[in-house]
Amino acid sequence: MKKVFIKTHGCQMNEYDSEKMLDMLSLEEKFIQTTNQDEADLLVLNTCSIREKAQERVFHQVGRWKKLKDKNPNLKIAIGGCVASQEGQQITKRAPAVDIVFGPQTLHRLPKMYRSAVQEEKNQIDISFPKIEKFDHIPDTKTDEPTAFVSIAEGCNKYCSFCVVPHTRGHEVSRPVQDIIEEIKKLADQGVREINLLGQNVNNYKGIDGGEKKSLAFLIERTAKIDGIDRIRYTTSHPFEFRDDLVELYAHLPELVSHVHLPIQSGSDRILKLMRRRYTVEKYLDLVSRLKKNRPNISLSSDFIVGFPNESQQDFEDTLSVIDEVRYDESFSFIYSPRPNTPAAEMEDNVSLEEKKDRLAILQNRLNHHAFNIGRKMVGTIERCLVTGISKKNPGELQARTENNRVVNFPSSAKLIGEFVDIEIVDQLTNCLRGKIKTETDLCQN
Ligand code: SAH
Ligand code: F3S
Repeated sequence: MKKVFIKTHGCQMNEYDSEKMLDMLSLEEKFIQTTNQDEADLLVLNTCSIREKAQERVFHQVGRWKKLKDKNPNLKIAIGGCVASQEGQQITKRAPAVDIVFGPQTLHRLPKMYRSAVQEEKNQIDISFPKIEKFDHIPDTKTDEPTAFVSIAEGCNKYCSFCVVPHTRGHEVSRPVQDIIEEIKKLADQGVREINLLGQNVNNYKGIDGGEKKSLAFLIERTAKIDGIDRIRYTTSHPFEFRDDLVELYAHLPELVSHVHLPIQSGSDRILKLMRRRYTVEKYLDLVSRLKKNRPNISLSSDFIVGFPNESQQDFEDTLSVIDEVRYDESFSFIYSPRPNTPAAEMEDNVSLEEKKDRLAILQNRLNHHAFNIGRKMVGTIERCLVTGISKKNPGELQARTENNRVVNFPSSAKLIGEFVDIEIVDQLTNCLRGKIKTETDLCQN
């Protein structure tokens, strides 16, 4: 049996793609996965270039892997993902130990590229964007997890001025509704209860069904009808294309979780314009209030960038004000870094690194404050949770997820994995909540 070791950098989309790489390699080349890189026949690095130092990280990793190749000349090294897409053959030029370079849209060709690399003893490079053909080649996922990601669209057309994704993952392409529904049905048959619909900008989903383009809301409603699927999430949302039919769904579709990741990036209209985000703070807040009207207990999370070119102290404070107004749940925040080929990279990166770091610390402090308060308010409440597995902290306990995606650890027996249970939140610790399962007798009394 040949063994493959896969290392993944970056986002959930990359995690999803890495799973698909493994599925393809197992099916076509009978590879099995190993977690020990010393015994691998193929080393795969699925890269991310969203923020700085991405290229350097890749070359450092290849440098370490080259030592393994010196010991085992049959070992092949493959670089995929967004750095591969961006750098192409520069990678093999700078790091000749690399045998295969493939992009996010050519990952289904990896087994064939591996075969060619072995047979022809020469580098294989394919970073093209062949529409959506990859999904026609990817085999069905085998899983024993109760949650699963399903890619619904690839690429992005938004061209936010700071973002490299449209350049590395290509133009937005939506998968047809029926293909996605079939994939979800097969996952549900294996016990999956929660689906996370994935894409760079899922709000602009336009998959074909019966000859017509359908919206994300339509796809979510169809997903909710599948037996066994009781929870639906989606990531990531762009506020600009958040359509009314989706806002409407929150009023009547219980399968749709009371949690939305809705990246605002900045709370200053001036900066949002420079970022080419296509909404104002007022529009964003109006969307938030419409969501809250339809789902009063909805929690929101966001991504933030600090130190974008020309961000003044006032712009930054405007972002803090929005944070105080929305009171976000656990969110992500980043220091701006110029990315190759993006319009923002042409602007002067004129906020000093020291200032960026200070702003990031202040912003994260504010975010933590609100997220902590949300957790504190959950203490004493009963939350409907999906039991996802054994607790990472204590093998004698289980781990579950709340609607707002918080981890809850609680004492119980393993037979509940994959079930929805009502859990009373009894405490909030640094990285998780502690809970106590409501016993059947307790549940009957309610
Ligand atoms: N499609 C998603 C985001 C993808 S990238 C959306 O619409 O929001 C994930 C996050 O990385 C972004 O939301 C942004 O906050 C951050 N990011 C992207 N490019 C960046 C850059 N050049 N510098 C710093 N952060 C960046
Ligand atoms: Fe990037 Fe903006 Fe698309 S952040 S992924 S260009 S929505």
